[in-house]
Amino acid sequence: MSLTDPAHDLLDRGHATIPLPTADTEVLAELRTQAAWFFTQDEETKVRHGSRDFNFGYRPYGRQYSISPDRPDMNSSFTYWADDPTKVPGHEADTVAPFLKALGAYWRVAADAADQVLTGLARHYGYCDDLEFRTSSYLEVNWYLRDPARDLLQDRHEDGHLVTLATSDGPGLEIETGGAMKRATVGDGRLLVMPGSVLTAMTAGQIPPLYHQVRNHQLERRITTLFLVNPRLDRNVAPYTAAGGEGVDIAALARTSGSMFGLPPAPVPDPPTA
Ligand SMILES: [Fe+2]
Repeated sequence: MSLTDPAHDLLDRGHATIPLPTADTEVLAELRTQAAWFFTQDEETKVRHGSRDFNFGYRPYGRQYSISPDRPDMNSSFTYWADDPTKVPGHEADTVAPFLKALGAYWRVAADAADQVLTGLARHYGYCDDLEFRTSSYLEVNWYLRDPARDLLQDRHEDGHLVTLATSDGPGLEIETGGAMKRATVGDGRLLVMPGSVLTAMTAGQIPPLYHQVRNHQLERRITTLFLVNPRLDRNVAPYTAAGGEGVDIAALARTSGSMFGLPPAPVPDPPTA
């Protein structure tokens, strides 16, 4: 299997999957174990590990939605930006440090997979700009809540990033293929690569966003691990192809696309110190 396969699958089929080596599936399993441990603490403890603007660390239920603010996504979240645990309030406390350690270990796994995708796309488009995704992307772990009344735990939406690398510990994810929402069959030990609206802008529409939703199967527990891949946020980047896409401020789109889901602007990394 060549390194360019995920990129070709995105172009041919609109989504892709990436297999994880066995050692990396163990890193993912440890992350899920630590996530379950963190999220089953009391709310007061968890809130201490979230920033006031909800960009870093714990984000309670009710802050994020897919279509309408009166139908929040049925999950709380934890976000880990740019492989930097110090951005999480109280990061050294024993109520969060083991979880952050597991996030750091999984960061390498997810970033390697994202690198495969972006390297393949750069090769396909003859693209030379460095997207510096490692300083502008984040991991998000979603801890789903039980609600017997909801048919969908997240309503149909597209993500506002280049790609999302998604994996879940249970069924529920549905993706739009052939005009219909169908259960995503990703397979154990694989990441699903879902293109987002920033990639659509970068490719002048050649890769449309993958619409998705989460069906409620009344599971006892559901954990989703997402790697949200952004281009650099501090200055504009060139699109992969300019065909019809001239003048689009890709970085501004990536910084502000969370607003349609109730999220604050993405944090712009500090410039490197001399
Ligand atoms: Fe999503």
